[in-house]
This record gives sequence, structure tokens and C-alpha cells, in this order.
Amino acid sequence: MKLANNHIFVTGGSKGIGKAIVRDCAEAGAKVSFVDIDVPAGESFAKEMQDSGFPVAFARADVADFAELTRAYDSLVAQFGEVTGVVNNAGVNSYADPVTMTDEEWDAFFAIDMKAIWLTAKLALPAMRAAHKGAIVIIGSIHGRLTFPDFFPYGAAKAAVIGLTRNLGVDEGKHNIRTNVVAPGYVLTPLTQGWLDSQPGRMERSLAIQPLGRMGQPQEIAKVVSFLLSDDASFVNGSDWAVDGGLSARSA
Ligand SMILES: NC(=O)c1ccc[n+]([C@@H]2O[C@H](COP(=O)([O-])OP(=O)(O)OC[C@H]3O[C@@H](n4cnc5c(N)ncnc54)[C@H](O)[C@@H]3O)[C@@H](O)[C@H]2O)c1
Repeated sequence: MKLANNHIFVTGGSKGIGKAIVRDCAEAGAKVSFVDIDVPAGESFAKEMQDSGFPVAFARADVADFAELTRAYDSLVAQFGEVTGVVNNAGVNSYADPVTMTDEEWDAFFAIDMKAIWLTAKLALPAMRAAHKGAIVIIGSIHGRLTFPDFFPYGAAKAAVIGLTRNLGVDEGKHNIRTNVVAPGYVLTPLTQGWLDSQPGRMERSLAIQPLGRMGQPQEIAKVVSFLLSDDASFVNGSDWAVDGGLSARSA
């Protein structure tokens, strides 16, 4: 029960990697709260966990909307006490063209994949500083270090969160608050499935380059996240952990 006596707050926990993180943290002994814009999926997952005896709570929030995020965060803190660990997982893909992408599309994308991580830190850091302890994990991507065609400007956002992690790791370290990135490779989630389904042959081409011959499962990301949230990772700070089956070790 490596996360006993923790309240872990997860963004985007209704589906995919975030859902696996909620489950794994609860199984590791934490109280877990999560926000998402997918309310039916969030409510039914929270109920499933509660019915199995886990202290899990859900509230609707768009991470790009600071007022809504703050209201949801405060209500979850009222339920489970101050947050001891944050997982910034909510994210969307972007397949824009640099010429036709509009200002509004740029801002909307960065509001979710980049700015929300700062907003969540803004909410969680005061209590973590007061407790002189805390852990923040950001779900980045292999796209933070390398990318594929037609993902503009996803690689920019995922590289930026590595920089944000260095800043937080260096500045908040004196408060014993650790910040780290987990950078998945291909993980089978609704997001990836949509991308794989968008072109015939994409699944076969994607599998052909995987050093382990397969894609990852959401729980394989969650296990690394719960480790980084726990005291077992007490000297890990400001780092970027690839969890990609070796994909980023490979040349073309
Ligand atoms: N799946 C992969 O292969 C992969 C690889 C690298 C990185 N990632 C990253 O992992 C994270 C999760 O991806 P996933 O594959 O599980 O995606 P997903 O689409 O399957 O799940 C994401 C969840 O976030 C929620 N969400 C989206 N926008 C939101 C918003 N504005 N506010 C609140 N919630 C919101 C969605 O409703 C959904 O429940 C993302 O940050 C993604 O960039 C995924």
C-alpha cells in the first residue's frame, strides 16, 4: 500500500491512461479524485470503484477552464483532504497544418496540453508547500523528444512540459515537492485507437517499429506513475521517464 494516507488528484481520469492511473493509485491505498469532461464515463467509473470499496471521487471539469477546475478541485479537497499528489494526464492530440491552424485552435490546444499543467500546480502547490511534501507527475509523450509527421504542434506542447517539469523540480525541490514527466510511447487507449483507425495499414506499420513487438497497455504507464508518486521515488525529481517499450531508443 505504497500510497496509503495520500490524496491523489488526476486529470482526465474517465478513460485511457488516466483511468488506469486512478485504479492503480486506489489499489495502492490512496484516496483518488479525478476530473474529466466526459461525465457519463467519469461517473460510471467512480461508481464502479466505490462499489468495490475504493475511496474514489469524480467531478466534471475542463482543465482549460480555471474557474471550473478550481471549483471541482475545492470540492474534491473538501471530500478527501488536501491533495498530496497530482497527475496531469488530460490531453488531446493535434494534427494541425502550420499555415491553416487558427489562433483560436492554437490557444485551445495549448490550454489543455500545456497551460492546464501550470493551473493545476497553482492549485496544489500551496498545501504541498505547507506540508513540506508533494509529488507531481505530468504525462508527456515520446513526442517531447522526437515526433512523427502530421502532429503539429503536439511535439511543441509535449517538449514544453519537460521544461516546465525542470522549472518546478528545481524551484519546488526546496519544499520537498518532486515533479517528473512520464513519457509514454504507443499505448492502446481510445485516443490511440482513433488515430490507428484513421488510415488503413497504420496499425501494422506502427507495430512493425516497436522493439517489444507490441504497444503498451494503460496500466503499464500507471505503474510507473504510482511509483513516482510514492516515497519509493523520494530522490527522483525534475526528470523525464520514457515508458515506450524502447521505441525512442531506435533509429529509423
Ligand atoms: N495513448 C498514447 O499512446 C499516448 C502516448 C503518449 C502520450 N499520451 C498522453 O497521455 C495522456 C492521456 O492520453 P490517452 O491516450 O489516455 O487519451 P484518451 O483520449 O483515451 O483519454 C484522455 C481523457 O482526458 C479527457 N480530457 C480531454 N480533454 C480534457 C479537458 N480539456 N479537460 C478534462 N479532461 C479532458 C478525455 O475526456 C479522456 O477521458 C494525454 O496527455 C496524451 O497526450 C498518450
